[in-house]
Amino acid sequence: MSTLHPVSPEFAARARVDKAAYERDYAESVRDPEGFWRRIGQRLDWTRPYTKVKDVSFDVDDFRIRWYEDGQLNLAANCLDRHLAARGDKTAIVWEGDDPNESRRISYRELHAEVCKAANLLTNLGVKKGDRVAIYLPMIPEAAVAMLACARIGAVHTVVFGGFSPDSLAGRIADSQCKLVITADEGLRGGKKVALKINVDEALQRPGTNSVETVLVVKRTGGAVAMQAPRDRWWSALMDGQKAEHEPVAVGAEDPLFILYTSGSTGKPKGVLHSTGGYLVYASYTHECVFDLREDDVYWCTADVGWVTGHSYLLYGPLANGATTLMFEGVPNYPDSSRFWQVVDKHQVTLFYTAPTAIRALMREGEAPVKKASRASLRLLGSVGEPINPEAWEWYWRVVGDGRCPIVDTWWQTETGGILITPLPGAIDQKPGSATLPFFGVKPAIVDAAGAILDGATEGNLVITDSWPGQMRTVYGDHQRFIDTYFKTYPGMYFTGDGARRDADGYYWITGRVDDVINVSGHRLGTAEVESALVAHPKVAEAAVVGCPHDIKGQGIYAYVTLKAGETPSEELRKELVAWVRKEIGPIASPDFLQWASGLPKTRSGKIMRRILRKIAENAPDQLGDTSTLADPGVVQNLVDERLAR
Ligand code: PRX
Repeated sequence: MSTLHPVSPEFAARARVDKAAYERDYAESVRDPEGFWRRIGQRLDWTRPYTKVKDVSFDVDDFRIRWYEDGQLNLAANCLDRHLAARGDKTAIVWEGDDPNESRRISYRELHAEVCKAANLLTNLGVKKGDRVAIYLPMIPEAAVAMLACARIGAVHTVVFGGFSPDSLAGRIADSQCKLVITADEGLRGGKKVALKINVDEALQRPGTNSVETVLVVKRTGGAVAMQAPRDRWWSALMDGQKAEHEPVAVGAEDPLFILYTSGSTGKPKGVLHSTGGYLVYASYTHECVFDLREDDVYWCTADVGWVTGHSYLLYGPLANGATTLMFEGVPNYPDSSRFWQVVDKHQVTLFYTAPTAIRALMREGEAPVKKASRASLRLLGSVGEPINPEAWEWYWRVVGDGRCPIVDTWWQTETGGILITPLPGAIDQKPGSATLPFFGVKPAIVDAAGAILDGATEGNLVITDSWPGQMRTVYGDHQRFIDTYFKTYPGMYFTGDGARRDADGYYWITGRVDDVINVSGHRLGTAEVESALVAHPKVAEAAVVGCPHDIKGQGIYAYVTLKAGETPSEELRKELVAWVRKEIGPIASPDFLQWASGLPKTRSGKIMRRILRKIAENAPDQLGDTSTLADPGVVQNLVDERLAR
C-alpha cells in the first residue's frame, strides 16, 4: 500500500470544504438529494426559477432523468453576462499559443461581446434553437466563442476533436445532421500544421452530410485553402459586421446543450447528449469544490475542447464560476519538455489539471525540465482520464508540486458530465492511485457479475445507484441504446463500464474498463471501431483488437490481423495497415502493435475470445485460463509463438 498523503493543515485551514463539511454535506446530499440540489441549483441565474428539482427513475420500463425540469436559463448568460458588473475587466480566457511568443488575455467583457457577435452571426445564417452545429477547431479562443454562441441561441453543438479524420468527422455530422460547421484553415500543434479545412471538404463529400448548409472558416495560419461558394464563408469577415449585443434565448433546463461522441463496446461512437440546467449546476459546483476555486486563481486544464474535460472543466465550469481559465493551443513537449512549467510561470497558474499520460511522458524526461521553472504559483494539481499509477502520482506530487500541492485524482466519464469520485483537497486524505471518495450526491456501489451489491472492502464492477444533475440524458437519436447500454446490465443502476476496488477506508480504486473499450493516453476508443477500420482494408480478412499495457499511454492498441487468402504478411503491409487506421479514424487510433494471425481463438459459436488475446498481448501466456471451449485450441499456441517480441 502506498503512502498516505494527509490533507495539509495549511490547505485545510482555508479550504472551501473541510473534513467536517464534507461528511456533513455528503450525508445530507444522499439523504435528501432533492433538498440538497434545490439549494445548490441556486448558484445559477434562472430566467424562470425551477419549482421541481429531481424526477428520476432508472427502471427500464419507466425510465426518466430530469433535473430542474420547469426552470429556464441561458448557459452563456450564466457564463458571461452575469459576471459583467463585478468582473467585466477580469480575464476570462488566457490564451497561450503553440508558439511561446504568442498569447492573449480576453476579459469577460470582450468575450461577452465576441459571443454576442457570433450569436447574431449564427442567427443570421439561419441557425435556430435546437439546430446542430459541428465545431472542428483547434484550441483557439474562437472555439470557446463558437460553443458559447451556440449555447446563447439554444443551438446544440457537437465539438469534434481536431485529430479526428474526415471519416470520423463525417460520421458525427451525419449522425447529428448538423446545419453548419465551424472550422479553421489549419490547426497548429507542436509546430506542425493540421489540415482542418481540407478534412472538412473531404468529410462533406461523404454520404449523409448534405444537411450542412454553411462552413464558417476561422483563419488561423493563413495557409491556402479552397473556399467553395456559397457554402464556405470566412468567420472574421462575417463577424465584423455583427452587433455586439444579443438577447440570450431562454432555454429549458432539460433542453439539449451539446452532443459529444464517445466510444462504446460496440458499433460506432455514440452521441452522448447533455442537457443545460443540471449539467451547468453540476459542472460549476464540482469545479468550485474540487479545485477549491478562489477569485484570484488562474486555472489551467490542458484538455482539448474536443473532449468532455474541455467542455466541463476548460470552459463551462470555470466560466460559470467567473474564473480565469487558460487555453493552450500546443503540446507539452514543444518547443521543449519544459513548456508546461514555463506556461505556469508565465501566467502564474495556481490550479493545474492534466492527464496521467502527459505526466508519464514528462517524467521520462527527468526532473531538470521541471526544475527549470519556479512553479511557485501552483497550489493544487489535478489528474483525469485514466488511472494514475502511484509512481506517476508521487512524481507529480514531489517534483511538479514540490510536495506542497494536493492532487485531486478525478474519476468521471463523458457520460457523467462532471467529476463523480475525487478527493476534495481540504477534506479528504489522498492515497496515490485512488480517486478516493464520492462527490456530494453521488452514490457509487460495487456489484458482482450477477449485480449483487457488495459491502465493505471488495472488488467488482462500478455502478452508480442514483442520478446526479450532470448525468447524460440520452444517446442522440437512439434512446433505447442509452437505456440498453447503461441500465440493463444491472437493473436499476447506472453501469459505468469500469471495474473498481474499495479498500477498508471506503476509498475507490478504479481498475480500468471491464468492457471492450480501451483508454489510450486518456482517449477512449472502442476495439470494435479499430477492428472495423482494419477489415475495411481490401487485404484484411479478419481483425481483433485488444488493449495492452503501455508505459506512457497507459494502454496501447494491440491488433491481431488475419489476411485474405493469397495475401502475404510483410513489414510494408504492416506499416500500410497502421497508416490506414490512422487515416480512417485519426492518429490516436494507430495500432501500437500489429501481429499477423493465421487464425483467431473462437468459441464453437464463432465468438472471438478476447480474454485470451489480451493475455497474449500482455505476454502472460501462463494465464490464458480455460481454452477447452475453443473451436480450435491450436490457434492459441500459434499466436503465443508468433507474439511480437517487444
Ligand atoms: O475508465 C475510466 C477512465 O476514463 C473513462 C472515461 O473516459 P472518457 O469518457 O473519455 O472521459 C475521460 C475524462 C473524464 C472512465 O470510464 N477514467 C477517467 N478518469 C479516471 C479514469 N480512470 C481512473 N481514474 C480516473 N481519475
